[in-house]
Amino acid sequence: MSAYSHDTIKTGKEIKFSPEAQKFVDKHLAKYPEGKKKSALLPLLHLAQQELGGWLSVDVQDYIATILNIKPIEVYEVVTFYSQYYTKPVGKYVFEVCRTSPCKLRGSDEIVEYIENKLSIKDGQTTPDGMFTLKTVECLAACGMAPVMQCGLPYHEFLTEEKVDKIINDCIAENKISRAFF
Ligand code: FES
Repeated sequence: MSAYSHDTIKTGKEIKFSPEAQKFVDKHLAKYPEGKKKSALLPLLHLAQQELGGWLSVDVQDYIATILNIKPIEVYEVVTFYSQYYTKPVGKYVFEVCRTSPCKLRGSDEIVEYIENKLSIKDGQTTPDGMFTLKTVECLAACGMAPVMQCGLPYHEFLTEEKVDKIINDCIAENKISRAFF
């Protein structure tokens, strides 16, 4: 058990990349000389999050540390720095709304409140059906298009309540689910 404590979760499950994912790992490891394999940390974490359950448990982070032959703390400190890495289970769609000053001045607080009311969740929570997570984050480097939200790779800019409705509707349509508020 690591002495490290943040809001991470140990699952006790066996962790192992699929053969296909392992090829990706090997390709990235091959780019760096012995002693510098840590340089592959970010892509391996993205891969792990994608392939090993959608979030990074302590077990998964320890697994990555073993692959890179680095200390677990070197993984933990990176995972907790970047908001794109999730240390607890999240919904299929993660709405990451920027809360830094330029977005705040352009109404991000109101957007967060609108999403909270629409989905009946608070910042940091996931809807009971596991579809949506709301998370406020620091600057997404698109300040000129404030207020901004990231969902997966796409950025949604100049957000309005109408745009939020469309984004949620599109997610629902993609999954053919019905929700009481529509
Ligand atoms: Fe929101 Fe920079 S302040 S993207």
